Amino acid sequence: MALIFVVVMLLAALHDSDGTLRFASYYGDHMVLQKAPQKAVLWGYGSEREQVAVYLTSSTVLQKVLSDPVTNGIWQVTLEPVDAGGPYSIYAVAEGSISSLKDVLFGDIWLCGGQSNMLFTVSQIFNSSEELALSSKYPHVRPFMTALNMSKTELIDLIQVEIPWSAPNSSVLAEFSGLCWLFGRYMYEKLNYPIGLVESSWGGTPVEAWSSTRALKQCGLVPSEDMYELEDDIIQQTENSMLNSTVLWNAMIHPFLNMTIYGAIWYQGEANAEYHKDKYNCSFPTMINDWRMAFHQGSGGQTAPDFPFGFVQLSTYKESATDDGFPDIRWHQTADVGFVPNIRMKNTFMAVAFDLPDKTSPYGTIHPRDKQDVAHRLTLGARAVAYGEKGISFQGPFPKVIVPSKSTVNVTYDQGIFVTPSKDIFEICCSEKNASCESDSLWSPAPIMVWNQITIQLSASACPPSKVAALRYGWSDWPCEFKACPVYDSSKNLPAPPFIANRYAGNQIW
Ligand SMILES: *[C@@H]1O[C@H](CO)[C@@H](O)[C@H](O)[C@H]1NC(C)=O
Ligand SMILES: *[C@@H]1O[C@H](CO)[C@@H](O)[C@H](O)[C@H]1NC(C)=O
Ligand SMILES: *[C@@H]1O[C@H](CO)[C@@H](O)[C@H](O)[C@H]1NC(C)=O
Ligand SMILES: *[C@@H]1O[C@H](CO)[C@@H](O)[C@H](O)[C@H]1NC(C)=O
Ligand SMILES: *[C@@H]1O[C@H](CO)[C@@H](O)[C@H](O)[C@H]1NC(C)=O
Ligand SMILES: *[C@@H]1O[C@H](CO)[C@@H](O)[C@H](O)[C@H]1NC(C)=O
Ligand SMILES: *[C@@H]1O[C@H](CO)[C@@H](O)[C@H](O)[C@H]1NC(C)=O
Ligand SMILES: *[C@@H]1O[C@H](CO)[C@@H](O)[C@H](O)[C@H]1NC(C)=O
Repeated sequence: MALIFVVVMLLAALHDSDGTLRFASYYGDHMVLQKAPQKAVLWGYGSEREQVAVYLTSSTVLQKVLSDPVTNGIWQVTLEPVDAGGPYSIYAVAEGSISSLKDVLFGDIWLCGGQSNMLFTVSQIFNSSEELALSSKYPHVRPFMTALNMSKTELIDLIQVEIPWSAPNSSVLAEFSGLCWLFGRYMYEKLNYPIGLVESSWGGTPVEAWSSTRALKQCGLVPSEDMYELEDDIIQQTENSMLNSTVLWNAMIHPFLNMTIYGAIWYQGEANAEYHKDKYNCSFPTMINDWRMAFHQGSGGQTAPDFPFGFVQLSTYKESATDDGFPDIRWHQTADVGFVPNIRMKNTFMAVAFDLPDKTSPYGTIHPRDKQDVAHRLTLGARAVAYGEKGISFQGPFPKVIVPSKSTVNVTYDQGIFVTPSKDIFEICCSEKNASCESDSLWSPAPIMVWNQITIQLSASACPPSKVAALRYGWSDWPCEFKACPVYDSSKNLPAPPFIANRYAGNQIW
C-alpha cells in the first residue's frame, strides 16, 4: 500500500494534467462526497479507450478503483464505501496525465433547490452579520452552487459553476443560500460529520422548469413544440425564458444525476400561484418521484430510490389578499392531504412557514428574512424522516375528528394544542349537501368559542342549523402575524398547518 502511495505521489509530481484527463465540473478541491453505506460516484473526461485509475488516499487509507475504458470521452468509477470524515486526496491517473482533488471530506450531500426564497442569501437573512461571522467555525459544512443556466436538452455536466466547493467563509457564504446553509449547519450540529450543500436554484421559476418532460407528461403538462425559439441547445437568459418547461431540469439538475446524494430540500411554489396552480398537486409530487428515480438510476443505484425530500410550505406575500393562490399552493404542496409524509408523498418532510411573515422585508414581503425558524423546522423533519430519529416532534397539530352539531363544530386534533382565540381563522361553508364550496362567498368566519387540551369548539352560527358543509383553517395568504397563529402544538413551537375539509367529499375526519 505504501508503495502504491509513493507511486501516485511521484506521478502527481511528474505530470500535470494536460487537460484531457479531468473531473466533471462539480468535483473539486474541498468537496464533500457521499459517505458510507452509500458509495460515491466520480466521473470525468479522458482520452478515448484509456483506462483511468482513481486513488483515494489519506495518511491511513488507500483505495484504488479502475474505470472501464473511456467511452465518448467519459470515464466513471464507483468508490468502495468510505466512512464520514477526511480529509482525503483523490487522484485520477491515466497514461501520462493526472488530475487531483484535494481536501475531500465524506459526509451527507444535500441538494438545495427552488426559487428566490432558496436563492435568498446568507447576507440577506436576519442576523446575517452574526451568521457570516460564525461561518469559519463550520469548516466541515461545505457549499457549492451552480450558475443560473438553461438548456433545451438534458446536459451531462454543468454549463458553469457559480460557487466552487469551498470551506465556508464570510465572502463565500454572503452569496450562498441562507436556508441551505442554515439547514446544513443545524444538521451538522446534530450529526457531527461533514455536510455537502449543493445549491441549484433560480428566482421566479415554476416547478415545470425543474421537471423532466417525462414528469410533466404524467400531469398533462406536455411542453409544446414551439416553446423554444432559439437554435442553440443552450438558451440565453431572457426575461421569460425560465418559464420554459424542463430548461432548468436540463441544465441545473440533470448534470448531478451521476453524483451520489443523500437527500434534497426545496423552497418553491410562489411562481405557481398563478401558473398551472391547479396542477401543482400533481406536478410537485411527480417531480419529487421523478428526481428520485433519475438520481437512483444515474448513480448506478447509490442514491436511494426514495431519497428524503424536505420542503418549505409557502410563507406569506400579500397581507390583505384573500385569493392569490397561496392557500391552494400550500395545500397542493402536500398533495391535498394537509401534512407530510403521506401516502402520495412518502419520505418527505415540510416546514410550515405561513406564521413567519416579514412586513418590512427590504427584499419585498414575498421574501421573509427569518430563515432560521424555517431551517430549524426543516431540520426537525429531517431528523425524524431522513435520519429516523425517534421521538422527534416535527409536525404541527392536524385535525383528527370534526364533529358538527346544531350550531357548533368541534375540531379534535391529533396532539395537544396551544390556542389563542380568533374570530376568523376558522371558516365554515354553509351549503346544501350536494353543492360545492368553491366560491369564496359561501364561506363565513367560525369564531373559536372554547377549547381544551386537544379540542376546539367553533361557533357555526353563521350557517343555518346543521348546514355546515366544509371547514377550513388559515385559508388566506397572510392569516396571522409573526408566530401568532391561533393553533400551535402544546410546546408552541410548531404551527398547525392550514387545512380544508369537505364534509361530503368522503373525508375520513368528519
Ligand atoms: C450561465 O450563467 C451565468 C451566471 O449565472 C452567466 O453569466 C452565463 O452567461 C450563463 N451561460 C450561458 C451559456 O447562458
Ligand atoms: C474565502 O474562500 C474563498 C474560496 O476558498 C477564497 O477565495 C477567499 O479568499 C476566502 N476569503 C476570505 C475572506 O477568507
Ligand atoms: C421560452 O424561452 C424563449 C427563449 O428565451 C422565450 O422567447 C419564450 O417566451 C419562452 N417561453 C415561455 C412559455 O416562457
Ligand atoms: C388537484 O387539484 C385540483 C383543483 O384544485 C382538483 O380538481 C384535482 O382533483 C386535484 N388532483 C389531485 C390528483 O389531487
Ligand atoms: C449517468 O447519468 C446519466 C443520466 O441519467 C445516465 O444516462 C448514465 O447512464 C449515468 N451513468 C452511469 C454510469 O450510471
Ligand atoms: C437574531 O439575534 C437575536 C439576538 O441574538 C435573537 O434574539 C433573534 O431571535 C435572532 N433572529 C433570528 C431570526 O434568529
Ligand atoms: C364539543 O366540545 C365542547 C368543549 O370541549 C364539549 O363541551 C361538547 O360536548 C363537544 N360537543 C360534541 C358534539 O362533541
Ligand atoms: C342538489 O340536489 C337537489 C335535489 O336533488 C337539486 O334540486 C339541486 O339542484 C342540487 N343542487 C346542486 C347545486 O347540484
